[in-house]
Amino acid sequence: MAPDSSSIDDPLFDAGHHIFANKDLLKTGHVPEADRIVGRDEEISKLATRLNGAVHGYSPENVMVYGKTGTGKSLVSRHVCQRARNAAQDGVTIGTAYVDCAEDDTETQAVSSLAAKLNDEAETGISVPHTGLSTSKYYKLLWETLDAQYDSTIVVLDEVDLMDDDSVLMKLSRAEEAGKITGSIGIIAISNKIQYIDDLNERVKSSFQHKELFFKPYDANQLREIMYNRRDAFREGVLSEDVIPLSAAFAAQEHGDARKAIDILRHAGEVAFEEEADTVREHHVRQAQQHAEKDRFRELVSGAPTQAKAALLALTELSINASGDAFLTSQVYDQYERVCEFLDMDVLSVRRFRDILKEQAFLGVVEIEKINKGSAGGIHLQNRLIEDAQVVRETILEDARMGDWASE
Ligand SMILES: Nc1ncnc2c1ncn2[C@@H]1O[C@H](COP(=O)(O)OP(=O)(O)OP(=O)(O)O)[C@@H](O)[C@H]1O
Ligand SMILES: [Mg+2]
Repeated sequence: MAPDSSSIDDPLFDAGHHIFANKDLLKTGHVPEADRIVGRDEEISKLATRLNGAVHGYSPENVMVYGKTGTGKSLVSRHVCQRARNAAQDGVTIGTAYVDCAEDDTETQAVSSLAAKLNDEAETGISVPHTGLSTSKYYKLLWETLDAQYDSTIVVLDEVDLMDDDSVLMKLSRAEEAGKITGSIGIIAISNKIQYIDDLNERVKSSFQHKELFFKPYDANQLREIMYNRRDAFREGVLSEDVIPLSAAFAAQEHGDARKAIDILRHAGEVAFEEEADTVREHHVRQAQQHAEKDRFRELVSGAPTQAKAALLALTELSINASGDAFLTSQVYDQYERVCEFLDMDVLSVRRFRDILKEQAFLGVVEIEKINKGSAGGIHLQNRLIEDAQVVRETILEDARMGDWASE
């Protein structure tokens, strides 16, 4: 438990403390205690049923967990693992390990990370080096580690669709049957791509026998409750009444994403702090929401392919320097040719250029409007940036390949 921050006398270190009491509660990755988890009783109990074997010293089942972002998949999986470990019956030892496949995205990394996490060197006398061994050597260490310590092991492979290799899934699920280990392994694989399993090759599919568990998005009431359960992140009396309902409403707009709700709430607190306000109010939430939108937008633009960036850069130049904010495709194309020439890039055909703009419209960066130029003029397309042109320009120029344009 963090000491009471009101005891800090030196104002230099008092950052945020008149707003926040325990900001950690709003951190991503923070695993809240059971009584702060909202509306997931059914998912928790279903997952526990699948893993029940482990607690009693038998083989647990494998589970594939699906659901959109921010629906509590990682949280519930970690929570159930924790409870399974604590509930293990006398004489049964359970090992649990969590792998973030966004980080450990190769087979070798995933296996070495599993071996390192599950190995207690003091008990096994095995040392698992961070790098330098072959994949098969890491598997060997993993099997030795498991045999030396656990009757049953539960492995969480989070964001499993980001692995560049499905072999881990196959080898872990076959370990018991293939006689690599004497204990058992249960796998919880998590993904937000519903077609993940269909895309796996047949060999992996047949060895990774599993049940599926689907997480629905939260509704606004649940999002509200999730935030109310963490309101002690703030000092007493600091949150004005409408802050949590408004954050919940924003987060429920696309789909009920609890991460987004908590991010907006934390950010609203930070904005209030920056403003040296005494309370967090509705307008801080609105600012936080706008900020989140901008972040999302920046991510879209900075992740765009180089040619798309050149096209967007052309549109930003027109938006900043020419009159009006919507421009005919032909106008944008002329400017795009200048950008490409200056940056020494290939110039795409008008047709492919149009496709790029269409794609950007689909992503919500550009808006395309049809205008009718009378019977002889036919239909023309006008392109407009949805966000502020300066923001788009700054984001594009962060790309080293585009940076030279700044001097133009
Ligand atoms: N039911 C809940 N009760 C309390 N907090 C929750 C609940 N669901 C999610 N959260 C919180 O919301 C955030 C996002 O949850 P989590 O990371 O589990 O989502 P996820 O489904 O794994 O999303 P992603 O697919 O993006 O990884 C976390 O900070 C988590 O603590
Ligand atoms: Mg997750």
